Amino acid sequence: MAENENKLIYTFGALAELGQEITNRKSFQEMIRTSLHLLLGSLAIMRGGVARYSRFRHELNFIAVKGLGEDFPPSFSLSQQDEHRFLSAGLAAADVSQASGDPVVSEFVAAGRNKPLEMFVPLVIQDELVGLITLGEKANGEPYSSYDREVICAMARHIGVGIAQRNMMVEIERRATENRRLYDDLRFTYTNTVKAFAAAIDYKDKYTEGHSVRVGKYTEIIAKQLGWGNEEIEGAAVAGYLHDIGKLTVERNIINSPMRINAKESVHLNKHPVVGYEILLPIHHPYADVPLAAKYHHERLDGRGYPDGLADREIPYIAKIVNLADSVDAMTTDRPYKRRRPAHEMIEDLQRNSGNQFAPELVTSFCGALLSELTGKKKRLGFTRMLGKEYLLKQDLIPQLQNVLNGLNGTSSMTLVSLD
Ligand SMILES: [Fe+2]
Repeated sequence: MAENENKLIYTFGALAELGQEITNRKSFQEMIRTSLHLLLGSLAIMRGGVARYSRFRHELNFIAVKGLGEDFPPSFSLSQQDEHRFLSAGLAAADVSQASGDPVVSEFVAAGRNKPLEMFVPLVIQDELVGLITLGEKANGEPYSSYDREVICAMARHIGVGIAQRNMMVEIERRATENRRLYDDLRFTYTNTVKAFAAAIDYKDKYTEGHSVRVGKYTEIIAKQLGWGNEEIEGAAVAGYLHDIGKLTVERNIINSPMRINAKESVHLNKHPVVGYEILLPIHHPYADVPLAAKYHHERLDGRGYPDGLADREIPYIAKIVNLADSVDAMTTDRPYKRRRPAHEMIEDLQRNSGNQFAPELVTSFCGALLSELTGKKKRLGFTRMLGKEYLLKQDLIPQLQNVLNGLNGTSSMTLVSLD
C-alpha cells in the first residue's frame, strides 16, 4: 500500500511538472523533449518517441526521441485510412503486439529493429489527431500494468494538448501574416489609385503640373511635424492628393486659361470643392476626413473663404492643413499670369496671414519643417526636391524661419532683396 502511495505521489509530481512544461514559454521542441523524458522517467521506460502529425503532409514527424537508435526514421507517412483508424481508436495506450496487423504500427516495429517497441498512443485531442507517442519496454522487464496505462494516458493528454496549442498558435500566426499581407496589398492599391487620380487631376491643368502631388507631400510633411501617427499622416497625404478632384468636372479652357478668369468662370471654378466632396463622399476611405478636406480647403480662418464661409473652429483641421499646403504651392510655382514668388516672400505671406487665413500653429509647423531640412536636421523631407536647391538658397531663409518660430516679425531684423 505504502509503495502504491509513493508511486501515486511520484506520478502526480511528474504530472504537475509536465503541466508546467506545457505552459512554459520555452521552445516547443524543448518542451516536448522534456515531457518525453518526464514520461519515460516516471515509469522507468527504456525508450520512446513523440511525433507531431502534419495534416497537410499526412506525416508523423518525430520531434523527440530517446533510445530509439540513430537510424530510426524521423517521419512516417499516413494514409487517410491510417488517420481515421487512429482517430477512432482515440487517445488510448495500445499494445503493439495486438496491433501487429496495422501497417503503420508494423512500420514502427520494423524501424525499431533491435530496439523493440511495445506501446503506442495516438494523441487525439478534440477529435483531431495531433500526434503519436510510442514507447519501448519497462526497465524492470515487467509488462505494463493498468495503472501504468492510466499514467501514460494522462501524460499523453498533456503532451497532446501542448501540441494542439502549438498548432493553434502556428495557424493564428499564419492567418495574421496572411491578413497583414492582404492589408498591405490593399493599402498599396489604394495609395496607388489615389496617386493615379492626383496625376489625372494634374494632367488636366497644364500650368500647375504636379500641383496635387506637391500639396499631398506638403500636407504629409506638416502632419509629420505635428507629431501625428503613421496612419494619420497617410490620411493627410491622401487628403492633399485628392483636394482638387472636383476640378475634373471643370472645363479645361477655364482651368488652362492663360489669363485671369472672369467672374462667371470663377463661379464655375469655385464649385470644385463641393463637387470634389460629392465625388469623394460615397467612397469608403480608410481615413475619415478626406471628403471634408476637399470641401473646405478654400475656407479661411477669418470666414472669408468659400464655399460656406466657415470660421476658425468650424473648419475641419485637415482642411486647414491642405489650405496652407495649397497656398504654399500656389505661391512657389509659376502660373500663366504670375511668376512664382521668392521663398522669403512666401514665408512673409504665411506670417502675415497667420491667424487670418492660416492657423498659426500650422504656419509654425510648416516653417519648423522647412528649417529642419535647411539646417540638415531632417534631410529628406522633400522641400529641396520640390522647390529646387537654387530657389531655397537664393535667400538666407534660416534666420527668417528662426524668427517665425520665435514668434518675431521675420522681416524686421533683415533686409530682404528679391533676386528673381
Ligand atoms: Fe482647390
